[in-house]
Amino acid sequence: MNSCSVMDNLATQATAIRAREIAAVANAVLAGLSDKKKSLPAWLFYDAAGSRLFEAITRLPEYYLTALEHSIFSQYAQEMISAAAGLDNNQLSVLELGAGSASKTLVLLRALISRQGHAIYLPIDVSEAALQSAKKNVHAALPAVDVQPICSEITQEKSLELPQTGRRLALYIGSSIGNFDPEDAVELLQWLNSQLQPGDALLLGTDMVKDAAPLLAAYNDLAGVTAAFNKNILARLNRELGADFALDAFEHRAVWNVAKCRMEMHLESQRQQTVRVEALDRDFEFRRGESIHTENSYKFSSEDVANMLLKSGFVLEQSWYDPDDWFGVHLARVVDSVTMPDADANEEAA
Ligand code: AVJ
Repeated sequence: MNSCSVMDNLATQATAIRAREIAAVANAVLAGLSDKKKSLPAWLFYDAAGSRLFEAITRLPEYYLTALEHSIFSQYAQEMISAAAGLDNNQLSVLELGAGSASKTLVLLRALISRQGHAIYLPIDVSEAALQSAKKNVHAALPAVDVQPICSEITQEKSLELPQTGRRLALYIGSSIGNFDPEDAVELLQWLNSQLQPGDALLLGTDMVKDAAPLLAAYNDLAGVTAAFNKNILARLNRELGADFALDAFEHRAVWNVAKCRMEMHLESQRQQTVRVEALDRDFEFRRGESIHTENSYKFSSEDVANMLLKSGFVLEQSWYDPDDWFGVHLARVVDSVTMPDADANEEAA
């Protein structure tokens, strides 16, 4: 094959991948907006513009989650790594779900390198761009880390076969698990468990239950970045599906649902209106005050965390918190299915 046809092939492949992504967006939008209670899935936030807006959120004074988790890692990374390595002091490789910018991960990788000199880091992300920048960042800061990116959408495919890299420490941080309804969170962690071996470890970051005031502030920042992040979902549908959402006809709403223990984000229609989605050849009617539910962000008690892990085949070994217990990082172990405690029996006993 000459170089031109190689380039043509790559271009054709990229176009095919893009077409599949747009079809996935179109399907999600058709399902979500046809429902009696309209919703859109949270993964739609993260196009290039949305990912930039989320990075901006993590630097907001009100958005305590990222700063607290970072400080917990800074203070306890060494302790976390030796606890994960266990009594027999195993060499660990690190696997990360939804790697993102990898800045908190660097803190852990640094501790790991100072302990074992060398490490394999397997970031998994949907975004090839995110993976490449994670690889570049890690390589620049810690050349002793061997970065092996894996491009995959775990929440949709779940068929990932991980390379065998010895004892593994899986990372699922940033309270990303909070985006899932409880049953789906367990299903995701069960999938992760099935990819690991007995003795492997998981570090899970979760935002903890707290008073409503700091929660409401974190999702209603004064600079309006969260509102822009929420509305970007509509801008994305305008760009990708030829929709005609009027962005100023929808308001960002973030509410604390105390019964379900979650923050919710909505986009509330400010008037009765009809929105055209060209790619679906469909119109959608909105009543004044009707909302599109765009995100759930569950908050956990330490019991919630222990139960969720147990149902997923893990045993919680240790947790680290900031001084106010606002954010938690939890170390859990994959247990042998033979010695696995019965999660349901445990709940009945409780
Ligand atoms: C990335 C899912 C952890 O729920 O706090 C930030 C996303 N939404 N502000 C969260 C988000 C609104 C974030 N997670």
